[in-house]
Amino acid sequence: MNNKRPENMERITTQALANAFIDEQVKELRAQIGNKKVLLALSGGVDSSVVAALLIKAVGKQLVSVHVNHGLLRKGEPEQVVEVFRNQLNANLVYVDAVDRFLTKLEGVAEPEKKRKIIGAEFIRVFEEEARKLEGIEFLAQGTIYPDILESGPVKAHHNVGGLPDDLQFELVEPLRFLFKDEVRVVGKALGLPDGMVYRQPFPGPGLGVRCLGAITRDRLEAVRESDAILREEFAKNGLEGQVWQYFTAVPDFKSVGVNNDVRTYAFPVIIRAVNTVDAMTATVAPIPFELLQHITDRITKEVANVNRVLFDLTPKPTGTIEWE
Ligand code: XMP
Repeated sequence: MNNKRPENMERITTQALANAFIDEQVKELRAQIGNKKVLLALSGGVDSSVVAALLIKAVGKQLVSVHVNHGLLRKGEPEQVVEVFRNQLNANLVYVDAVDRFLTKLEGVAEPEKKRKIIGAEFIRVFEEEARKLEGIEFLAQGTIYPDILESGPVKAHHNVGGLPDDLQFELVEPLRFLFKDEVRVVGKALGLPDGMVYRQPFPGPGLGVRCLGAITRDRLEAVRESDAILREEFAKNGLEGQVWQYFTAVPDFKSVGVNNDVRTYAFPVIIRAVNTVDAMTATVAPIPFELLQHITDRITKEVANVNRVLFDLTPKPTGTIEWE
């Protein structure tokens, strides 16, 4: 496959340019795919969502999207994938609830790279099982974008469902492979995807798994998910959504002493991280108004179970990485 962006390709900055790109891709995809079936791992991230929407426009139900809920997604994400793709776009969507399976595999595993490997390998296994259940698939669609090809993008390669066994190899369909992230968003918008999907901040492939530090437990995973939801809600309400490059919470695997209603507590802290960056290689800490941090702390300590303390990470990259694991 040709891997160089054509030199005369105009940067897609407007809805009109996006519509022209979509029309051309729809034609090309129909020519490539014919009446065959295409498989896609749909995470709900920007790239796979835009690929799905594009393929639905081109070949409708010939696209089979598989959404694997590994239990490490943010609050509301699996529901949004089902709502947008199955209910609104009438897609052929296979929803796989693999939560228990992933959490069982991850039980007692504290080492970050081991956790990543288990999540990646288990994902391939689940996807492979689903692929084997389907008949007549000839193509595999992927949300590869140009920075993935240039290998200089901020997001580490997570699009590739590479690793499938030899007897399960498909012809690749990668309609976004010459697009930069901002162009993917313009195309997604033109395809009618909701803003929350098109403009969302980067989210690592292993999801909340690398933000529930050390060996994942269900109570701390819930604390990460609920505190992250509060942080995102408050950032959106206070005009910081789209202004701060990446923001999230992490929950370490130690407790500290606190007090609540005159009763001594022993519970987990929540760490807030909010950074700005251009390429994720270096990052600065986003200046968040102190009153807002106080308000978020108040909400998290009141609303999130098993939490009695909130910390704000003041470390730029270097010396800290953006994620904690
Ligand atoms: P770090 O923590 O290395 O993160 O400063 C830089 C950017 O990469 C994201 N990140 C990941 N993305 N799989 C991914 O798809 C991963 O394992 C992973 N680890 C970090 C991180 O969220 C940040 O945007």
